Formats: sequence, C-alpha cells, structure tokens
Amino acid sequence: MHIIQAIDYNDLSKKAADRIAAQIRENPDSVLGLATGSSPLAAYGLLIRQYEQGKLDFSRITTVNLDEYRGLGPENSQSYRYYMDRNLFDHVNIDKSRTFLPDGLGADPEAVCRGYDQLLEDLGGTDLQLLGLGHNGHIGFNEPADAFPRDTHCVNLAESTIAANRRFFQSEADVPRQAYTMGIRGIFLAEKILLLVSGQAKASILKAALCGPITPRVPASILQLHRDVTVLADEAALSELR
Ligand code: GLP
Repeated sequence: MHIIQAIDYNDLSKKAADRIAAQIRENPDSVLGLATGSSPLAAYGLLIRQYEQGKLDFSRITTVNLDEYRGLGPENSQSYRYYMDRNLFDHVNIDKSRTFLPDGLGADPEAVCRGYDQLLEDLGGTDLQLLGLGHNGHIGFNEPADAFPRDTHCVNLAESTIAANRRFFQSEADVPRQAYTMGIRGIFLAEKILLLVSGQAKASILKAALCGPITPRVPASILQLHRDVTVLADEAALSELR
C-alpha cells in the first residue's frame, strides 16, 4: 500500500486527476471504476479541463460506478447517474453507452445485482478503481456488517450514512434508505485502487482502516489485502497517522 500526502483538498484533487489522466493516456481503452461524493468531485472538474485543453481523449473509455441509490432515476438530481452526467460525462467525449451504474429504477433488485456482477465479469474488472471513504469506514455503500459482502447487493443504509448524505436532500425523509453497491469482489477485481480521503473528520476512520485489524466493521480495512492500493489523503485526513 502506498500513502501519498496531499496538502489539502485542492492538492489532493490535482494529484488524483493527474493519476486518472495518466491511466487514460497509458491505456485509452481503460475501464475506470468511478465514485461519487465530494472526494472525487474537484478531480472530475480538472479532468474536464484537461479534455477541453485537448490533453485527454475519453472516446474509448468505459466506466463502471460503485453504487447507486435504489429508487432514484437519471433525472433525479440526487441520483449518482445524474451526478456523473453533470460532473463529468456531459462535458467530455465519452460514449455514454459505455458508462455504467446500477439501475436505480430496476424492478427486480436481484436482477440488477446479478446483471452488474456479470458486467464486471465481462469487462474483466476495472483498470483503476476510485474510492472514497465513508465516515463509518464504508467503501461504495458496503456498510459495516458482520461479514464482508462479496457481490453486488442492495443494502440498507446505516443511520450514520443517511445522516451524512442528508445535506444533499431537502429533508432526512427524502434520503433513500437503500442503495445498490458493488461488493468487495467487484472492487477487488481492480488492477489498481486509488482511495481519496480529505479532511479532519475522516482522520480516525482512515487510521482504523489502514492500521487497524481487517474487519467487516470497518469495510475499508479490507483494502490492506489488495495488491495495488494508493491512498491519496490530505494532511488533515492523515493527522492521526503520524
Ligand atoms: C457516499 C458514497 C461513497 C462515497 C462516500 C464518501 O455515501 N456512497 O461511494 O465514497 O460516501 O463520500 P464523500 O466523498 O462525500 O465523503
């Protein structure tokens, strides 16, 4: 595991964008595993800028996102499809038919999950998987549990996750209670993983994930077992690790 210290969120975003851009240049047919949330947001903006400057070509890139709220469709401004469209896909020359997220409106949750795992299988996993870190240690929406969830599944969101995501919705009642998420196997199919962590509020959970026991109570702790993980975190997030 490599740990790279950024100064702050801006520096972290620049370093993250540079790594993603390098992956795209090195292999223009890359399969990118993408995340939502605030951690990768500015990095996506910097990738758009590189595209506009003619430095990046997304035309042969495929993307698979980690997760999606159950019950929210592409037109819902809180869906992750909407986030990805507005914050990246609509602004670059990506073929949208090759951008994948679990179908939040799928009628049969089991079919949504099995279809997503088949997709990951067919793609041979991702070349680079971006991850954020939840306040409770979740990755994707793999919440603390008694066992690590292997496959894509529909999860009941933890109260702390609902509270953390409350800021994006009009009221707490509007925050979806369920979401689809890639399981640990899907995440681990990645050749390389890039975990982005910013801010003091993540310092103790980051320490637990990197230095604590590998436990499904801290889902990100399983990353200690992946062969190629880079943790890109700012000084505040790393403040408990020194
Ligand atoms: C959300 C998402 C995760 C994300 C995490 C951290 O609930 N499902 O994929 O990585 O929480 O979010 P943020 O980057 O906004 O702190």
